[in-house]
Amino acid sequence: MHVLVAGSHGQVGQHVTRLLAESDHEVRGMVRDDDQQSDIEALGAEPVVADLTDDVTHAVEGADAIVFAAGSGGGDVWGVDRDGAINIIEEAEQQDADRFVMLSSINADSPDESPEELREYLEAKAEADEHLRESDLTYTIVRPGALTDDEGTGRIRTGADLDRKDAEIPREDVAETLVTALPMESTHGHTFEVLSGDDPIAEALENPRRQP
Ligand SMILES: NC(=O)c1ccc[n+]([C@@H]2O[C@H](COP(=O)([O-])OP(=O)(O)OC[C@H]3O[C@@H](n4cnc5c(N)ncnc54)[C@H](OP(=O)(O)O)[C@@H]3O)[C@@H](O)[C@H]2O)c1
Repeated sequence: MHVLVAGSHGQVGQHVTRLLAESDHEVRGMVRDDDQQSDIEALGAEPVVADLTDDVTHAVEGADAIVFAAGSGGGDVWGVDRDGAINIIEEAEQQDADRFVMLSSINADSPDESPEELREYLEAKAEADEHLRESDLTYTIVRPGALTDDEGTGRIRTGADLDRKDAEIPREDVAETLVTALPMESTHGHTFEVLSGDDPIAEALENPRRQP
């Protein structure tokens, strides 16, 4: 598969790019900054310079699938997390890049359960997710808890509405979840939460909305 990674130079995005490049996929890593291109090449991918808030036609060209790992970091949540995501979803529809794996967030559908400073971000993510669900694309929406820089364990729990106790997960495990979900039909058309857990990632993704 030809896979475009949006947010390829981000912390999750770099793990995603490396894992895809180590597999059988042809990988293109999207960055905003020219200077980040060599890092993407070092991860084994072809860099492309594009901004989600601008024209992304050339970035999507030839892609079969998109993994969306970009994010505003709490900055321009409406411009990047909502409208930037919608921009590339619509471009994927235009160009028949049918498969779309979205990195979303736990509590996107229940912002009131999160601290005040996260609420607009979560509302923006929820609107982007809804747009993806209503698109023609074959989507998977992955909603992790708080991301950590701990080493990945390869073990997760997934479900429609997980217990929030210890609601964390290493970025490396989130990246592996996104990459493993990409070819798995069992994740098609599903939105699910993911946290650190006991099940090997591929096993958990066989029935991702089942409560552990
Ligand atoms: N932090 C958490 O606990 C948490 C929990 C659940 C979900 N998430 C989601 O996970 C995402 C990834 O996390 P992370 O730690 O990997 O974030 P990160 O390191 O900040 O990576 C975000 C990437 O998005 C890129 N980006 C931002 N605006 C863009 C634009 N307009 N066009 C193209 N690329 C753009 C950034 O590029 P630049 O280098 O150019 O800025 C960066 O490479 C977050 O954005 C968030 O939506 C986070």
